[in-house]
Amino acid sequence: MTTAPGRPRPDRLPHDALGPLRDRERVAQRLLESSARHSFDPDAELDWDAPPEDGKWYWPPELLSLYGTPLWRRMPEEQRRELARHEAAALASLGIWFEIILMQLLVRHIYDKPLTSAHVRYALTEIADECRHSKMFARMIQKGGAPAYPVSGLHHALGRVAKTITTTPGAFAMTLLGEEILDHMQRLTFPDERVQTLVRGVTRIHVIEEARHVRYAREELRRQMVSAPRWEAALTRVSSGEAARIFAFAFVNPAVYTNVGLDRREAVAQVRASGHRREVMQAGAKRLTDFLDEIGVLRGTGRRLWKSSGLLA
Ligand SMILES: [Fe+2]
Ligand SMILES: [Fe+2]
Repeated sequence: MTTAPGRPRPDRLPHDALGPLRDRERVAQRLLESSARHSFDPDAELDWDAPPEDGKWYWPPELLSLYGTPLWRRMPEEQRRELARHEAAALASLGIWFEIILMQLLVRHIYDKPLTSAHVRYALTEIADECRHSKMFARMIQKGGAPAYPVSGLHHALGRVAKTITTTPGAFAMTLLGEEILDHMQRLTFPDERVQTLVRGVTRIHVIEEARHVRYAREELRRQMVSAPRWEAALTRVSSGEAARIFAFAFVNPAVYTNVGLDRREAVAQVRASGHRREVMQAGAKRLTDFLDEIGVLRGTGRRLWKSSGLLA
């Protein structure tokens, strides 16, 4: 749903209202130029045949959910590394789930936009990026040897409802939620020499290409929050807060704990109680929550939901 009933179509706007649309085209044009310069084919770019490197982590230990908890202190080094391998697979699985939702939202977003605009061409470019990313994440999971970790049946169903009913500003708020927190972690992962070369390569490609996606979504959401009717801005505040709660909860699939030989309940309880984990998640969300605050998404009930997600201090 990109154009609410009763909202003027872009081609019927009075001339002086075209400012935001010209701005939208300018942003898209710049993003297209950057895409032409820095896009990667992960199949060709990364060495998928290289064997795993002994003694290297699949994810930086400080970014693991259990890091620093009493349980972590009792875990032998070997088990900590196993947890890293499984959590990396769980995060890549979450990434694929999220990207598949995002691709659908983008396809819907452009359905009634001008066919030859830079804005539509950039959306198609981003969909192509996400196609390559999801294939890359799937390959990385297989290469690591840990299972794929689909989200729970409940979260899968909630995702279906959210992607079906959300309107444009809600879709872009959801996009940023999925992109910015994982992006923060990946920015810490790709330069880390303790980490497997393949994982560093995957996260590096993703960080470079995601920077454009974040820009596109932010600019669109900023415009939408100004032009959306009151009901839609209010809906966006609440739905993004609810999405933040689901996202924070689904972030690491708890089956990873069972699969590395830990008691699942105890592990989940310790992650919830971990001050370090809260700081990692809030640091990951900080740029996003500052931005959402600035454009008026973090108000009222929406703000309370964001707080209860644990992503907002
Ligand atoms: Fe992506
Ligand atoms: Fe993206």
